[in-house]
Amino acid sequence: MTMILNMRSSEMRSLETRSSETVSNSQLHSLSKAEFGQFRDWLYQQAGIHLADVKCSMVSGRLQKRLHALQLPGFAAYLDYLKVPAHQQERQTALNLLTTNETYFFREDKHFQFLQKLLAAQPQQQNWQIWSAAASSGQEAYSIAMTLAQQLGLNSRWQVSATDINTTVLEKAQRAIYSMDEAVKIPETMLKAYCEKGVGKDAGWFRIGQHIRQHVSFSITNLFKPDKQLPVFDLIFLRNVLIYFEAEDKKLIVNNVLRQLKPGGCLLVGHSESIHGYHPALVQLQPSCYRYSPESSGYVTI
Ligand SMILES: C[S@@+](CC[C@H](N)C(=O)[O-])C[C@H]1O[C@@H](n2cnc3c(N)ncnc32)[C@H](O)[C@@H]1O
Repeated sequence: MTMILNMRSSEMRSLETRSSETVSNSQLHSLSKAEFGQFRDWLYQQAGIHLADVKCSMVSGRLQKRLHALQLPGFAAYLDYLKVPAHQQERQTALNLLTTNETYFFREDKHFQFLQKLLAAQPQQQNWQIWSAAASSGQEAYSIAMTLAQQLGLNSRWQVSATDINTTVLEKAQRAIYSMDEAVKIPETMLKAYCEKGVGKDAGWFRIGQHIRQHVSFSITNLFKPDKQLPVFDLIFLRNVLIYFEAEDKKLIVNNVLRQLKPGGCLLVGHSESIHGYHPALVQLQPSCYRYSPESSGYVTI
């Protein structure tokens, strides 16, 4: 791993501290059942995310600091605030706070083995286009990019497009700076070849190298209304996001992403997510890995 760094980890640290600011117990506002119901409807409208009743304390905990920042007397006032057309920025802030963004490098490593096999089986293919469709803070997109770099080289033409609905995580993804604790799952050779280790005041942090970052782009997209500018992809990672939606909405999203997948291309979902029967042209290759096979798509076996 290169020992150079021009990152702004101090900025990162202060951001992380800010996001974990807590409100003391004596200042806590209580969230009634009816107010929780309104937040649930609001979040469903914004992002299609379904909140179960047990998420009441999560909603209350995550939004307390916004009431304090805006000096509002309670959650009812915050709900009114969110309805004001000019308050788009606050709607995005609330959405950012209410999505769950857990992720890590090389999560569910069978998918990265699958990717390696896929690349090896189609050596003649140029210009691979891969979509990390619920990218969170970028670890998935960079894991894909490191796998492509190792298999195809840094100078070949390939691109990873990473999207999410949450702008806070997308900013973190674009900075590409992570704590060394997060590096544990990155294979040693890739860490050495593609990451830069922080020194001095940046010790304890690493940054994804520029030669990898230049192959990865980030943009905001709601999976219910995918950006029309997105290209068609060879492979789509749609992992650990369907769990937040109801059955009919899962199908809608799978159909939306399939419009962006080349015939013969593959779709990967999280290991605990099943999309069996969601689309007649989806053929399961192995658990959580599907081939999109509308008639007469030419493809090779992996
Ligand atoms: C748990 S993370 C999964 C991250 C990564 N795919 C992985 O498997 O590690 C789920 C991500 O989905 C995003 N998300 C939730 N609803 C979305 C929507 N309607 N459109 C786009 N992204 C959404 C969240 O913001 C969050 O970052």
